[in-house]
Amino acid sequence: MHEVSDLAPGRALDLGCGEGADAVWLARRGWTVTGTDISGVALGRAAEHAAEAGVGDRVSFARHDLTESFPQGEFDLVSACFLHNYGDFPRDAVLRTAASAVAPGGTLLVVGHAGWAPWQEDREEAHFPTPAEVLAQLEPVTAGWEVLRAEETERIQNQPDGTPGTRTDNVVRVRRPA
Ligand SMILES: C[S@@+](CC[C@H](N)C(=O)[O-])C[C@H]1O[C@@H](n2cnc3c(N)ncnc32)[C@H](O)[C@@H]1O
Repeated sequence: MHEVSDLAPGRALDLGCGEGADAVWLARRGWTVTGTDISGVALGRAAEHAAEAGVGDRVSFARHDLTESFPQGEFDLVSACFLHNYGDFPRDAVLRTAASAVAPGGTLLVVGHAGWAPWQEDREEAHFPTPAEVLAQLEPVTAGWEVLRAEETERIQNQPDGTPGTRTDNVVRVRRPA
């Protein structure tokens, strides 16, 4: 989420927010955040984390299966971090809907793994879209938007044995014209 630390706070939508780490991070920086996830358990923990962080008044959580429903409204930031298309999840269609929810002048951030981590052994069949593929998937909605970032990035993540390993992710950041 540090990819958007330069943005002035506004209304944010975090898709597949899990236990709310990014939503809390944004709220701490002044954003009003809607976090959404299919998992009621994750959302319950996310609400607890927001309350513990003292930002419960700036974050709301709503349960959605994004294949069936989508939060109402428009947002200055819509983020989809590690919302992958394992199984038959229609990620590209969900990302286009996400782009449609970006307000004029707002930002869409899509972060995903570039592949399996080197230490992962149980690798099911999966395709990890490149930044260029993500841009192409978004294109019907984001034609004319400014591409601020579309690249691979490396980060350190703890391996199962607790030692740090290097993981490669894809980051796509686009801005809708004002
Ligand atoms: C790998 S986690 C990422 C969590 C968080 N965004 C992060 O960056 O750490 C993927 C999240 O997407 C959620 N998810 C999976 N399928 C979903 C769906 N159909 N609708 C909404 N959320 C979904 C999962 O419950 C999970 O919390």
